[in-house]
This record gives sequence, structure tokens and C-alpha cells, in this order.
Amino acid sequence: MQWVLSMTYLWLKAGHIVFVIFWMAGLFMLPRFFVYHQEAAPGSPENALWVEREQKLLRIILWPSLIVAWLLGLALAASIGAFGEGWFHAKLALVLGLTAYHVWLAGYATALARGERKLTGRQLRMLNEIPGVAAALIVILVIVKPF
Ligand code: HEM
Repeated sequence: MQWVLSMTYLWLKAGHIVFVIFWMAGLFMLPRFFVYHQEAAPGSPENALWVEREQKLLRIILWPSLIVAWLLGLALAASIGAFGEGWFHAKLALVLGLTAYHVWLAGYATALARGERKLTGRQLRMLNEIPGVAAALIVILVIVKPF
């Protein structure tokens, strides 16, 4: 029984890390796509190509990875009884922030498809620092568990 439980935990953790990697890869790629997309004139064939690429990235990589990483992460938390621990609360706050960033990116893609260009290329490049910093803090919290 003990063996089954520890194998379940390890498989959940392996799956969790795989889908977190997919999710983070998508979060890094999408604002890069936006930078190139914004260089295309609204209504041009190139613009239509970028809209299609962004929607595919959201539909095939970003949304499914977000959902699976969350489900496996919550199952892991239940399996190790993490809900009362400080490091987990801090991690949850950061992951909720990343999830809000994801939703905001999806909204920006919709606005771009309508021809709106709300941010400059430089601002979009700077946005790419957000998932990097959040991921570093999350990994420290989950490995070091400082509190
Ligand atoms: C989506 C919501 C998430 C939840 C609910 C969640 C929850 C968890 C839990 C409970 C563990 C097990 C920790 C342990 O066994 O000590 C874990 C492991 C891990 N998580 Fe998450 N996580 C989430 C998202 C993320 C994100 C976004 C990242 C990185 C950017 C991440 C990186 C990791 C890593 C690297 C581990 C393995 C740590 C180890 O080796 O023990 N997680 N996660």
C-alpha cells in the first residue's frame, strides 16, 4: 500500500512538472508572437497568419497545460497535505498571479485580432520578465520550502 501511494505521488509530480514546462513555454512564446504580430498591418494576410498562430498556441498548448498543471498540482497538494503550509500559500499566490497573466494574454490576443495594438514592442518584451521571475520564485518555494 505504501509503495502504491509513493508511486502515485511520483507519477503525479512527474506529470505536474511536464505540464508546468509546457505552460511556461507557451507563456514565454505568446508575447514574442505579439511583438512580430504587431509589425504586420491590421487586415493584411500576415496579420491573419499571426492571429491563427496565437489562437493555436492558446488552444493546443496554453489552456490544456494550465488546466492539467493545476489539476495535478492540487492532487499533489492533497496527497502531501500541503494546504495548511506557508510555502504552499505563497506558491498558490504566485501561481494565481501567473494564471491572471495567462488570462490577460488571451485577452490581448483577442484585442490584437480586432486590430488593436495597446502596448509597444518594448513593453511586450519587458512583460516576458514576469513568468521568468515568478517561475524562479515558485521553484525556490517548492524545493527549499523556506516557511
Ligand atoms: C498550477 C498550480 C500549481 C499547484 C496547485 C502546484 C502544487 C504543487 C505541489 C503540491 C507540489 C508537491 C511539492 C512536494 O512534494 O514537496 C508541486 C511540485 C512542484 N511544482 Fe507545482 N504547483 C502548481 C504550479 C507550478 C508552477 C507554475 C511551477 C513552476 C513554474 C511549479 C513547479 C513545481 C516543481 C518544480 C515541483 C517539484 C518539486 C519537488 O521536487 O519536490 N508548480 N507543485
